[in-house]
Amino acid sequence: MAPVLDCGPLMAARILDGKSLAAQVRSALKKEVEALSQRGIRPGLAVILAGDNPASRVYVRNKVRACEETGVRSDLYELPATVSEAALLDRVLALNDDSAVHGILVQLPLPKQIDPHRVLETIAPAKDVDGFHEANLGALVAGEPRMVACTPAGVMRLLEHAGVALGGAHAVVIGRSNIVGKPLALLLLQKDATVTICHSKSGGLGALARSADVLVAAVGRPKLVTGDMVKPGACVIDVGVNRLSDGSLCGDVDFAAAAAVAGSITPVPGGVGPMTIAMLLENCVRAARAMR
Ligand code: GUN
Repeated sequence: MAPVLDCGPLMAARILDGKSLAAQVRSALKKEVEALSQRGIRPGLAVILAGDNPASRVYVRNKVRACEETGVRSDLYELPATVSEAALLDRVLALNDDSAVHGILVQLPLPKQIDPHRVLETIAPAKDVDGFHEANLGALVAGEPRMVACTPAGVMRLLEHAGVALGGAHAVVIGRSNIVGKPLALLLLQKDATVTICHSKSGGLGALARSADVLVAAVGRPKLVTGDMVKPGACVIDVGVNRLSDGSLCGDVDFAAAAAVAGSITPVPGGVGPMTIAMLLENCVRAARAMR
């Protein structure tokens, strides 16, 4: 039974608990890592952090910690904000050739002198545990997913676990990034949802959102989705992680207002975020298995 957060008398929605599902995924992965390690294969993830973006530092710390807890080896390469593109590319090329490294993650954003596209395209597709390489994005478009971006994969796992019906449902994705919105739209389409992608230039956002059976917010704007934008009984997925001036975390959805109307909803924190890391570990273990 899914837990119900105490948000006052209006609260009706079922909470989609990503923290607990991610813990289940991680515990299964830990056993698999142990089994692989006994056969002489220790999954290994290389993480490159260039510059000193404070949010990136926190994300990377959480990823490295999750690796440690699961038994995945992690090597963190911290490069100065002044690092040249050539030096970063050399590092990626060396990791491509290192057989003990199964996954390579370059944390974004990168310092401004570096072209992120060139860096991401240099990662060997088989080691691209973020699923950002064009070969992996193309495979997804072709309906033959290989490495799938971690946040969209985590959202799909949450929906599947919660038994949310997608066939014929109207899924509205607010946000068109290469990291979340576009790949998630393709994954929802593959499950036979009718998908609408909205973005900052979309007119009539409120009406579009209100027509959604599954509403995903992935734009990075606190409380963009208000209660009146949610169809009664809809499933609301909040991918946003926004830090407010008082230091607290807030999603792209006005949680209390949306939870009063929705059928199910992800909290922030504790919804999509933990699933992203669980999917990263899963991609890494899968890469190790495939490279044996
Ligand atoms: N920056 C924000 N999200 C991500 C992510 O999922 N992967 C990487 N590499 N960088 C990010």
